[in-house]
Amino acid sequence: MSKSEAYQLKYHITPPQGLLNDPNGLAYFQDQYHVFYQWNPYGTEHKNKSWGHVVSSDLVNWRRKKAALVPSEPYDKDGIYSGGSIVHDGKLYLFYTGNVIRDDGSRESYQCAAVSEDGEQFRKLGPLFEHPPGYTRHVRDPKVWQDSEGNWWLIVGAQREDLTGDALVYKSEDLINWSWEGSFLEQEHSFGYMWECPDVMRFPENDVFVFSPQGLPEEGDKYRNPNQSGYIVGRISETGQFLGELSGFNELDRGFDFYAPQSFKINNRIIMFGWMSAMTEESEQAVPTIREGWVHTLTLPREMVLKDGVLHQQPLRELQLLRQDGVHGEIHSRGQWTLPSLAAEVVMRFNNQSASFRIVIRNAVLVDFDHEQNSLTVWRTNWLTNQKEHRRVVLRHPLAELQMFMESSSIELFVNQGEEVFSLRYFLEDTTERSMRFESDSSEVVFSMYPLQRSID
Ligand code: FRU
Repeated sequence: MSKSEAYQLKYHITPPQGLLNDPNGLAYFQDQYHVFYQWNPYGTEHKNKSWGHVVSSDLVNWRRKKAALVPSEPYDKDGIYSGGSIVHDGKLYLFYTGNVIRDDGSRESYQCAAVSEDGEQFRKLGPLFEHPPGYTRHVRDPKVWQDSEGNWWLIVGAQREDLTGDALVYKSEDLINWSWEGSFLEQEHSFGYMWECPDVMRFPENDVFVFSPQGLPEEGDKYRNPNQSGYIVGRISETGQFLGELSGFNELDRGFDFYAPQSFKINNRIIMFGWMSAMTEESEQAVPTIREGWVHTLTLPREMVLKDGVLHQQPLRELQLLRQDGVHGEIHSRGQWTLPSLAAEVVMRFNNQSASFRIVIRNAVLVDFDHEQNSLTVWRTNWLTNQKEHRRVVLRHPLAELQMFMESSSIELFVNQGEEVFSLRYFLEDTTERSMRFESDSSEVVFSMYPLQRSID
């Protein structure tokens, strides 16, 4: 069945059919950006995972390629799970986890590599190393980088036998022989039951360890989704240990739907994509696009900037290439307008924000700014329970700007140039509704609105 307009996403990376999850293998290779993603081409359940593949010359217009990796070998027969990539000696290397389900239902995992000379055909190189003792079979999602001395480092998410999460670090001089260097974190810890999708971002002043710990208990406004993704700031030592404190763990996204992000570095920019979902399996199976045979999307690419020890996520400047003719205006206290398209960008600037306000999007999503608390709360109606639910954050600085990337069934709301981001999916019954309302006692806002369109599909 084809995708209907009602919930289709026009400028995000979605699967042609089936289920998409994590971004994988992000790379710039032979003059093209490559994004791979977890993909079940045969259905909308979490099985048969392969690596879907799209390429682009500008990071916003994408072309589909055939699946890059599919299960085929004894060590990956039940799924090509997540991982990263590197470009070396004119070749693109992919690292992934081979998932194997034994006859008795128990699982095995293997950290594997594959290589390509043209960015299209990949030759599997097989498993790279054994796992150390003291860990369960939940070891997955390898990510590799090179240090300034030319050494290769690989981190992988893991679960210890006492059912706590961890990340392991390996070192290699040739990408073939890997030695285990211990736990990635120097600090003793017990933080969730499994760490998925570890990643590092190396900035000139600091290193950042990003990972997705499962099973953190809810704490006020924090950790409200089933699983979290966040980061700590520190430094990678010469022996490959991350020196940083888990007490500084900070969630990357404040919305309902964000998980398993991955980054890559190109021309000194660090660019990250996430999976725009962190829903329970029940909510996932109730997503209306399941009836059309597909589900989920990646987030937009975000440029990562480390400012005062806080990761900022700025919507990639290349996204401006999608803008069509804009509408510009001002609102004093109250106003209502119609979105030019269901695929649109809305930028709102506030000068000396001195009052609370609310923005009502398509009569469905509410963005509530509380001036006294300097907090933002985003409300949506859950499509499974029909209940209203919210996520909230207290801002670090006065509110100066909101930038919203809207689609027929998603919103990414960037606050103060990426100081905070809320990502969410939502599904309206009246899919033609295009109203937006601004309500306050005395706020003044200058806005710009652009329909967004990509040039190839
Ligand atoms: C995260 C994750 C990864 C795994 C992949 C399987 O969403 O569970 O840990 O490699 O998805 O699709």
